[in-house]
Amino acid sequence: MGTVIRGGTVVTATDTQEADILIEGEVVTAIARRIDTSGHQVVEAAGCYVFPGGVDPHTHLDMPFGGTVTADDFRTGTVAAAFGGTTTVIDFALHSKGDTLQNAIRTWHGKAEGKATIDYAFHVMVGDMNEQVRNEIPRIVEEEGVSSFKVFLAYKNNLQVDDETLFQTLRMAAQSGALVQVHAENGDVIDVLVREALAQGHVEPKYHALTRPPEAEGEATERAIRLAEIAGAPLYVVHVTCAQAAEAISDARKRGLPIFGETCPQYLVCDFSDYERPGFEGAKYVMSPPLREPFHQKVLWSSLRNGELVAFGSDQCSFNFQGQKELGRNDFSKIPNGAPTIEDRMAILYHYGVNEGRISLNRFVALTSTNNAKLFGLFPRKGTVAVGSDADLVIWDPDVERTISAATHHMNVDNSIFEGMRVRGQARTVLLRGQVIVDGGQFYGHPGMGRFQRCGRVSATVL
Ligand code: URP
Ligand code: ZN
Ligand code: ZN
Repeated sequence: MGTVIRGGTVVTATDTQEADILIEGEVVTAIARRIDTSGHQVVEAAGCYVFPGGVDPHTHLDMPFGGTVTADDFRTGTVAAAFGGTTTVIDFALHSKGDTLQNAIRTWHGKAEGKATIDYAFHVMVGDMNEQVRNEIPRIVEEEGVSSFKVFLAYKNNLQVDDETLFQTLRMAAQSGALVQVHAENGDVIDVLVREALAQGHVEPKYHALTRPPEAEGEATERAIRLAEIAGAPLYVVHVTCAQAAEAISDARKRGLPIFGETCPQYLVCDFSDYERPGFEGAKYVMSPPLREPFHQKVLWSSLRNGELVAFGSDQCSFNFQGQKELGRNDFSKIPNGAPTIEDRMAILYHYGVNEGRISLNRFVALTSTNNAKLFGLFPRKGTVAVGSDADLVIWDPDVERTISAATHHMNVDNSIFEGMRVRGQARTVLLRGQVIVDGGQFYGHPGMGRFQRCGRVSATVL
């Protein structure tokens, strides 16, 4: 017996059609205007869209950071992701200086196995470069199923690496068919500005943003692009927040370079004024790069619409206000950086993007699923609705309205940066490889049902 998803409007990155979908085992086996349902279980989708399950290319689950550990692990984080319509996450395995990349990946397998409720893959961070790490890169791509290497140009004295490390990583990745990801902010300049601000007694959350200006992001983005150009490597710029960075990416793409930019929901709907909330509330919005003046949101939206930004990640990195964000009550530089966003990634882009006429439905699917699967070598197993693809499907009710709140979300954290936002459109039913894991507000999955997905080589055929 299979399952027929009946009467929905199936939306991919390129097409929209009224169709039924037959699932047998874990994959889609037919898509047709009408499918005979006899002998099959039926899931009604009339009045709803059927999207491919979301692929979130940027999450930090169970990650030690800022003197603490993220509030969501692979169990709670993936349950919340599923409620939001995401069926695959790609998480960052952190690499410590002196360690092997293989060991970093092994550690992350230990965090995810037995806990993840949806499928998952890994990027691996490069924390320092030496002969051993250089030689490991091709082997990691071939044998570990990890094909993306993350380099931080910020977080001085912690995750930050120098240009040589970025350049060597780019060269090795290019030879191995892998993709380098960069957190592009100038960490040295930021470090000076932070020390100066603190010396002047500026300790409030808004100084986090004032010491990380958009120019520092623009400079690092331009530098990383130039180094990628010299190395002959593709480059993926994570969490683009500002005009300076978006324009650098756009210019590079106009020169024909394979540069891919990602942005995140928080940079579209939150802004600098959130740091000026009364008391210590602004700490909830402390993330890097920081929230910008609203003008930058216009640039991000037009870049998402016209294809200059091609990916949409959550940058999920949740910390409780009580006990975690509070670590920086007297010093903004000690506030753990990050916010809970995994659950609302798709709803925010749908509501403010599709409902408000900024992007098409097909672009929504490209950004939340298809392009992310393509860039990290998961396509067409993930990222589309097609015969032979995994039956990771989201039945999306476009009419349901709700108010986002920490009181009702499924993330294991006491705050939401989207608190009080009213959005229309929600995942009603979510299937992971043919099994219903979310339906009507109930969770039917279980820890351990998420499987590790091996990433193939980077595909530049994004939309
Ligand atoms: O503030 C953030 N974004 N925290 C997560 C780590 C990173 O830089 O992506
Ligand atoms: Zn980052
Ligand atoms: Zn991140």
